[in-house]
Amino acid sequence: MRTSHRLDSIPMSGIRKMFDLARPDSINLGLGEPDIEPPAAAVEGMNEAALAGLNRYGPTAGIPALRESVAKRFSGFGDLTAGNVMITPSGSSALLEVAMSFLDPGDEVLIPSPGFVIYGPHAVLAGGKGVEYRLTEGDFQPDIEDIEAKITPRTKMLMVNNPSNPTGGVLEEEPYKALLDLADDRDLMIVADEVYNEFVYEGVHRSFIPRLDRAVVINGFSKTMAVTGWRMGIAIANEDAMEDLVKMQYHLCASPAMPSQYGILKAMPGLDGYLANARTVFKRRRDLISDRINEIPGMCITPPKGAFYAFPSFDCDISSADLAMMLVREGLICTPGSAFGKYGEGHLRFSYAADESKIEAGMDILAATVKKIRR
Ligand SMILES: Cc1ncc(COP(=O)(O)O)c(C=O)c1O
Repeated sequence: MRTSHRLDSIPMSGIRKMFDLARPDSINLGLGEPDIEPPAAAVEGMNEAALAGLNRYGPTAGIPALRESVAKRFSGFGDLTAGNVMITPSGSSALLEVAMSFLDPGDEVLIPSPGFVIYGPHAVLAGGKGVEYRLTEGDFQPDIEDIEAKITPRTKMLMVNNPSNPTGGVLEEEPYKALLDLADDRDLMIVADEVYNEFVYEGVHRSFIPRLDRAVVINGFSKTMAVTGWRMGIAIANEDAMEDLVKMQYHLCASPAMPSQYGILKAMPGLDGYLANARTVFKRRRDLISDRINEIPGMCITPPKGAFYAFPSFDCDISSADLAMMLVREGLICTPGSAFGKYGEGHLRFSYAADESKIEAGMDILAATVKKIRR
């Protein structure tokens, strides 16, 4: 069987590669998933649904009660109804559905760099092309001049990830407004990936929901309810775009998983309390990992304001891939910055969705390894 040229031209994720090299006793700060348990109500709701026989296909856009509940939850950002919400089989598939629904062959997609690893491949799978734009160093805001310079007549889509994986950056007001002005001036569609919107430790989350005339917003429950294995995402769009997305989702999977949706639905009323606790835990770990990193000569980080990733820079004469490889051999799994695009070099990504003792032990390994290299 011959692989398609599209698939052939994209690499396997750099994140997964590190796991293949890991020792069984390694400290894993590589994974982008919360280590806390899901809300108990979610697990109950899923079990109840499965036991009650809700194990068949459901509505393509998701069960109405969950669509409504999601619309209500996000209505603080704009005037939303259930008709603006589709439940998807993961944030990842929602992103692919958007690419497949709105890109034509040759279309260009501006993607943040460093940025989440699937944006570029999705553009390619949909027949288009990803063009990396730079995030500024330190606070990791979109570099508006760089974006402007990279717009061509084929540019159709502008990806924004707020809060950001891998940087933990949270979009500030000025770049937020500048992105919207640019999209208006140059007639670009915005795809805003907001899966970490509940994990902001300082400042506020600026959603693109108020601009559904120009934006499709992606979210999900993987991070919000610590259910990465349930595969539950969200697409929020205006009614025209929603019609396209529902058509695409029908052809992709017919409908999202039924028991998972009922589980999520049952946990929605208690979500604020659950998240307040999760944010307290993650903020404490963020402070710990930032302090530990900044104590290491040659490493530097501005404490990230959101998500659960630390993305420090290092000042050593070695590539991020080689440094990450050395760390894996020493028993610490992390991800090289270069896995997140050309502007990610010179950095490492650590997930701090791991308990404090693991963060401490991981940072001991990091400090000892960097010391060896700099000698
Ligand atoms: C920025 C970002 N977007 C989307 C996703 C996809 O999440 P899921 O497919 O689990 O909903 C992830 C997962 O790591 C992510 O980091």
